Amino acid sequence: MNSYRKEIERRRTFAIISHPDAGKTTLTEKFLLYGGAIQSAGAVKGKAADRHAVSDWMEMEKKRGISITSSVMQFEYDGYCINILDTPGHQDFSEDTYRTLMAADSAVMVIDAAKGIEPQTRKLFKVCAMRDIPIFTFINKLDHEARDPFDLIEELEKEFGIGTYPMNWPIGCGVGFKGVFDRVKRAILTYSDAHRGRERLSAIECDITDTDKLDQLIGEYERRELVDQIELLDGASFDFDIDKVRHGKLSPVFFGSALNNFGIETFLENFLKMTTSPLPRKTEGETIDPMDDDFSAFVFKIQANMNKAHRDRIAFMRICSGKFERGTEYFHVQQGKNVKLSQPQQMMAQERSIIDEAYAGDIIGVFDPGIFAIGDTVCAPNHKVKFEGIPTFAPECFRMVEQLDSMKRKQFSKGMNQIAQEGAIQMFIEPGSGLERVIVGVVGELQFEVLESRMKNEYGVEYRTYPLEYQHIRRIKSDSDPKKLRLFEVKWVQDFRENNYLLFSSEWHIRHVLEANEGLELCEFGEE
Ligand code: G4P
Repeated sequence: MNSYRKEIERRRTFAIISHPDAGKTTLTEKFLLYGGAIQSAGAVKGKAADRHAVSDWMEMEKKRGISITSSVMQFEYDGYCINILDTPGHQDFSEDTYRTLMAADSAVMVIDAAKGIEPQTRKLFKVCAMRDIPIFTFINKLDHEARDPFDLIEELEKEFGIGTYPMNWPIGCGVGFKGVFDRVKRAILTYSDAHRGRERLSAIECDITDTDKLDQLIGEYERRELVDQIELLDGASFDFDIDKVRHGKLSPVFFGSALNNFGIETFLENFLKMTTSPLPRKTEGETIDPMDDDFSAFVFKIQANMNKAHRDRIAFMRICSGKFERGTEYFHVQQGKNVKLSQPQQMMAQERSIIDEAYAGDIIGVFDPGIFAIGDTVCAPNHKVKFEGIPTFAPECFRMVEQLDSMKRKQFSKGMNQIAQEGAIQMFIEPGSGLERVIVGVVGELQFEVLESRMKNEYGVEYRTYPLEYQHIRRIKSDSDPKKLRLFEVKWVQDFRENNYLLFSSEWHIRHVLEANEGLELCEFGEE
């Protein structure tokens, strides 16, 4: 047994996801606050203008009010070492979110009690379900008018095809919100106005069988209604089964109010007990146990210019096994070279600090001189492994992007390349054309806006774009020489590694080109 087993065992790494405005940021802040990692939550400060979430650091995010990039935070709570991966809250950024989920062992989904499942949560939930990621649901804003809790859990079960297990049950909502019934303690925890704006006020606890006290605390009518509801719930809901929770088949559901510090402790305590320490990860060939002595990690996110003053580029890695030690040489599998990971750092909100060591389950950011790509493996030189790649979604919207100012050719090329390496866009060139014109492919149109704004703000470059009508991309797998192919209304492009791709405007064109060129083999984007 290695000496750092204990460190790995106490780690919990999860992603937090929600539709914008459901309260993800507020809940994250409260986690940090309860863990002692920050001294006051933004919401406690009161004024909306003062408040910007500690996890939002990009200019665009603040302006748009949406979280575009994912951030990572570490904090301690009750002996656990917790890594939270914040995910972008806009539906056009599902690819980035998807990658973030690949680095997490479980997901916490925040839902607005008045709204229920919204489009973004629907998508993200499906990704979790696809990968059997355990999902914990926090139904937020009970201090506001809310939908019927039975309706809400039924919606979750129907939409996602998994079971739910309410860990607690709300007593009223909005101005009539009286607290929750804790199904583990078989007691109620009362909510009062005193929770508003206060930090960590303990709720009054009362056993469900203590009728007189309950009548005093929540009222006779509410007590009777609650008892009926609990009976219904106990009879009708799924049985609690930790195995199902850990395989993403049963979602524990918590009701509360993040803004009013209600339900956070219950959530954290139960969540931390139910989730697992870092899970094993598959490589091409073997499964890597987090407790292995040898270090291994994969890159799931690359981000340039996080700090404008530094013009830096950071590769974020999830450590899958062993212990990371600063200054040690590791092996970068995709480059086939030993590397020293310089300036290894961890994030606490906007503060970054250089670290000397980190363990399986942790996320570290390392300085990237332009060598890393998403999905790359870094491991101990004496135990070479290669993690299964992170799937890339095929771009579906394409535009020709042409620089306007020939004096800024270098910046144009640098910016486009860096943003492409981050995986935010796919960049191609038409063989034979100069570098002042590139073809950009993205999954969602909003990424074009982000590209334009980042090129302007971070690289000082403006450009012109022309929409292209192509919607499908395929890589040429066979040795066929693209110059000799019979192509009709199809564009031949190359990526920076000179892989050949064809862009098509319809499935019909794909079939047509295959029929006209014997021996031509095409494969999906991202396939090896
Ligand atoms: P997000 O990250 O999921 O997008 O949501 P965020 O936490 O930013 O919360 C969105 C809005 O909902 C915020 O209000 C926040 O204060 C509010 N909110 C979060 N949790 C609760 C809750 O439990 N009850 C109530 N009533 N509101 C909640 P805002 O007006 O946009 O900002 P601010 O004025 O509060 O700063």
